[in-house]
Amino acid sequence: MTEIADPAAPLLEVDDLQTSFVVGEGQDVRAVDGVSFAVRPGETIAIVGESGSGKSVTSLSIMRLLPKKVGRISRGTIKLRGRNIVDIPENEMRAIRGNDIGMIFQEPMTSLNPVHTIGTQIAEVVMQHEKVNKTKAHERAVEMLELVGIPEPRRRANNYPHEMSGGMRQRAMIAMALSCEPSVLIADEPTTALDVTIQAQILDLMRGLQKKLGMAIVFITHDLGVVAEMADRVVVMYAGQVVETGTVQEIFTKPLMPYTSGLMQSIPRMGKSETKVRLQTIPGYVPLLTKLPSGCRFRTRCSFATEACAAQEPPLEVLDSGRSVRCIRWRELDLLTVKATA
Ligand SMILES: Nc1ncnc2c1ncn2[C@@H]1O[C@H](COP(=O)(O)OP(=O)(O)O)[C@@H](O)[C@H]1O
Ligand SMILES: [Mg+2]
Repeated sequence: MTEIADPAAPLLEVDDLQTSFVVGEGQDVRAVDGVSFAVRPGETIAIVGESGSGKSVTSLSIMRLLPKKVGRISRGTIKLRGRNIVDIPENEMRAIRGNDIGMIFQEPMTSLNPVHTIGTQIAEVVMQHEKVNKTKAHERAVEMLELVGIPEPRRRANNYPHEMSGGMRQRAMIAMALSCEPSVLIADEPTTALDVTIQAQILDLMRGLQKKLGMAIVFITHDLGVVAEMADRVVVMYAGQVVETGTVQEIFTKPLMPYTSGLMQSIPRMGKSETKVRLQTIPGYVPLLTKLPSGCRFRTRCSFATEACAAQEPPLEVLDSGRSVRCIRWRELDLLTVKATA
């Protein structure tokens, strides 16, 4: 009997993930503390949150690329097509990385090899993935470089990473990650350093590939314009936890958690009528993991916090609609996204 895969089943399922780091005198801190989300074929979820909220540690955990000895997954499961990959041997994980799961990092030099030309590296990936000869694979590499907006791709293919500018290297890495046609793509601030034209071109490329391959995308960004354009659902993180989830529409038009509302108001949005928006920043900082406040982790910065918020940690409440929120006061609050100023 052959098993027929359920097309609506998640490709990647993170459940109750906890990632700990040893800091200082053997103290354990949880940079990721009970995070869960799932991504289905063809779906894009965006993970948003201020710097230090645990977004990169979440993606490094999925790829099992945490700094050795210091960081470890201390709880939870990560399932790829239903199979838990948290404990599989490193050689099996290596086969999954850059094949089943592709990743684009903030720092391109972590995935580019300094001793081979860009063209050779991409051709290697192509040959691992498809039965083509070296010449064909090199042609594909040149095509990919062209698709990510690298001028003179044929000449550039012969460059070593150090012969390229930072932006060019970033694009070469994206070309490499996409040429393996992964079923899951994890993109951690992939276009932050690139100019808007190139960024738009790369987002188009990702969407095109997603359509063609049914790729599931986990998109980490603090650019809400990109979120609105790319994502189906949003996961908001704060101090290592998920504090709100919902569809893009829900998160943008009716945030339930004060933190989400604050994020929305702190970032400019494109749009004819919205250009005169006064930008606000959320006062204060993400708390240190070693000095988390009691109760709600956001309460020290929240203008709606009461004594009850300090008493105990609010659970992530799952609503009938499927969205979820970590705030005991969400029912009483009527939060706005963007306050336009006169
Ligand atoms: N190698 C490490 N050792 C100790 N703490 C770390 C290490 N890497 C990350 N962290 C901590 O994990 C937390 C989350 O970091 P990160 O996932 O990089 O945040 P984000 O990507 O959301 O900006 C931070 O508080 C950071 O200090
Ligand atoms: Mg990060």
